Amino acid sequence: MEAPSVETAARWIRDGGVAALTGAGISVDSGIPDFRSAGGLWERYEPSQYATIEAFRQDPDRVWRMLREMGDLIDAARPNAGHLALAQLEARGHLDAVITQNVDDLHQAAGAKRVIEFHGNARDIRCARCGERPAAPPPPDGVCAPRCACGGVLRPMVVFFGEPIPPGAFVEASEVAQKCRTMLVVGTSATVAPASLLPMLAKTAGARLIEINLEETSLSRIADLALVGRSATEVLPAILRALDA
Ligand code: APR
Repeated sequence: MEAPSVETAARWIRDGGVAALTGAGISVDSGIPDFRSAGGLWERYEPSQYATIEAFRQDPDRVWRMLREMGDLIDAARPNAGHLALAQLEARGHLDAVITQNVDDLHQAAGAKRVIEFHGNARDIRCARCGERPAAPPPPDGVCAPRCACGGVLRPMVVFFGEPIPPGAFVEASEVAQKCRTMLVVGTSATVAPASLLPMLAKTAGARLIEINLEETSLSRIADLALVGRSATEVLPAILRALDA
């Protein structure tokens, strides 16, 4: 028998119509620090200097220093039990889609099929000038931004602050949020719009919100079930076990 709150989560999931919204917290146990917890990426890199489209245009070499560190962490990361549990929920028909704010490809690596990349992804590298994909991946080391044959600077197709959400992902994620009966909100501080508005969109449309987070967030007081204080890497497999019981 799992904890009562896990049993409740499993019961709601059994009703079907489940979507997940994930943030950096689900990948912390895979070795990728999140952004805003102690020791998070934004403690080392001031977002206004490293994560905005303006910063990229003004000083791509500096932004690529952060991008390379993130790229190395992503390359070394493997899906953890949280990613695998969500992929299992989908495989067994208990989860319709994962909307992720993460760019680390770990949901796909865990076997998830329907992953909506709300903030783009780090694997797709293009030229900021001509839009072409380079024939070869950018050089692994080097202190400056990799360049395209046309002379433009290469960039990963992650969404920088100040850029729009990819329209296809925005429309699909909004539809999923409005149609789901239960939204699992996993490992996000729910502080960055418009992703942070998706749980409210779901709740307004009648969905139940289940929050899984190490800490309380602004969502915790509106969640119908707040599984707070335990890692997603523990809680998601526990929900899967409760579903199997
Ligand atoms: N299990 C569950 N939750 C966790 C875990 C874990 N093992 N580790 C950390 N968390 C929680 C933290 O408590 C925090 O609430 O995950 C959340 C991570 O929050 P952020 O670091 O703000 O990451 P996220 O919400 O994904 O940020 C949203 O902001 O910087 C931009 O584009 C970036 O996509 C990112 C967006």
